[in-house]
Amino acid sequence: MPCAGWRLRRGQKPVLFHIAAGARIVAGTALVAFVVMLIVLREKSIADAPMLPVNFAHMDHKSVSCIDCHHNFNDSTGLGLCFECHKTDPAIVALIEEQFHDLCRNCHLEKQALAEDGGPTRQCFACHEGDELP
Ligand code: HEC
Ligand code: HEC
Ligand code: HEC
Ligand code: HEC
Repeated sequence: MPCAGWRLRRGQKPVLFHIAAGARIVAGTALVAFVVMLIVLREKSIADAPMLPVNFAHMDHKSVSCIDCHHNFNDSTGLGLCFECHKTDPAIVALIEEQFHDLCRNCHLEKQALAEDGGPTRQCFACHEGDELP
């Protein structure tokens, strides 16, 4: 005869189910905390790392309007030079690589697609060389 004490009522979950659910919540919270920690560490390491040198010459970009790049001249982000904000402002420092690659490379890629003269798109050192350019 089956032991009545172990029989579950309709809709009732076995004890193990609750333990497993609890473990999932604990594991889930730990995972979220871990991911948050990684994000914070990543931002800090990007902010702390010295900036990669940039090879940029205004002479090569005379066809581009100043405010296409110097967005802060006409939006309300403030004054200053690109990297004074982009390498220090905690709100955006983690985005420096993505934002500048989008700006610089996307335009170069568009020029390439139109078979016009443009700048480098993949060659890291064409942009990240420590040249002093005007
Ligand atoms: C068209 C120019 C261009 C090319 C090509 C380019 N980058 Fe960049 N990259 C930039 C600019 C501009 C920045 C923002 C300024 C800076 O951090 O040096 C940047 C930022 C970065 C950063 C963030 C550095 C920091 O200061 O925190 C990394 C990492 C990086 N690039 C890696 C690469 C690698 C790897 C490649 C090649 C696969 C590459 N870049 C190709 C223009 C370029
Ligand atoms: C294609 C993007 C782009 C365009 C267009 C552009 N700039 Fe810049 N400008 C930059 C970047 C990037 C820097 C930072 C360069 C560096 O740190 O090597 C900069 C730096 C400067 C600086 C500071 C120079 C210094 O190092 O002290 C001035 C001033 C400036 N730009 C003015 C202008 C004016 C005026 C125009 C329009 C005639 C213009 N820029 C067009 C991207 C651009
Ligand atoms: C006074 C601070 C400041 C200066 C100077 C500055 N930026 Fe920014 N930039 C910001 C902030 C803040 C954002 C984010 C704005 C937002 O998301 O509305 C931003 C966003 C951007 C983006 C992303 C735009 C997008 O639509 O996703 C690019 C690219 C960029 N900046 C390039 C530059 C370049 C190139 C220079 C210099 C020529 C420059 N910034 C100067 C503060 C600054
Ligand atoms: C809106 C378009 C546009 C943007 C944005 C732009 N570029 Fe360019 N870039 C050009 C064009 C066009 C040329 C080719 C000029 C020529 O050959 O006369 C060029 C050329 C270059 C060259 C090659 C110069 C040479 O001697 O071959 C470098 C390096 C460069 N860009 C870096 C950058 C960096 C770094 C940024 C971002 C801070 C940037 N560019 C943003 C359009 C752009």
